[in-house]
Amino acid sequence: MSKIYVVYWSGTGNTKAMAEKLGEGITAGGKDPEITEVDRIKAEGLKDEPVFALGCPSMGAEVLEEESMEPFVADLEQFVQGKKIALFGSYGWGNCEWMRDWEERLRNSGAEIVGGEGITCLNEPEEDTLSALYDLGKKLAEL
Ligand SMILES: Cc1cc2nc3c(=O)[nH]c(=O)nc-3n(C[C@H](O)[C@H](O)[C@H](O)COP(=O)(O)O)c2cc1C
Repeated sequence: MSKIYVVYWSGTGNTKAMAEKLGEGITAGGKDPEITEVDRIKAEGLKDEPVFALGCPSMGAEVLEEESMEPFVADLEQFVQGKKIALFGSYGWGNCEWMRDWEERLRNSGAEIVGGEGITCLNEPEEDTLSALYDLGKKLAEL
């Protein structure tokens, strides 16, 4: 069974819950989700992966978490050309600017954002978000 990485950062568990539901969808689609905290993997670990998912909440002032996820994504930008990447994350009060910037950044580096945009949710993911993540996981497994 081939693996699909789901690499995430989560401070209070909301984005982690999203990662887990995405993983359930990947399993349902017949692939093996490798759900990994960003601190446990180097960007080069994704170099040979054509399809993967990244999750991070909105932090700072509408930016990625700066200690781990930001440098990880900066490294990824060097080699994501042609890769299909799903994005997701939770936010608390903003207008999802962090996600729009993240999508644009990866697109500018030549990646395709699976589904056209990242999945976002206010605080804890509710049923509609979880269902969208499950479907996205199945879609990733079929790519
Ligand atoms: C230091 C810090 C900065 C944050 N900055 C933003 C922000 O700029 N915009 C926003 O919508 N939410 C912001 N949030 C709220 C988080 O995105 C929100 O609590 C989210 O659900 C956390 O996800 P997690 O449980 O995966 O860590 C911030 C939270 C913290 C702790």
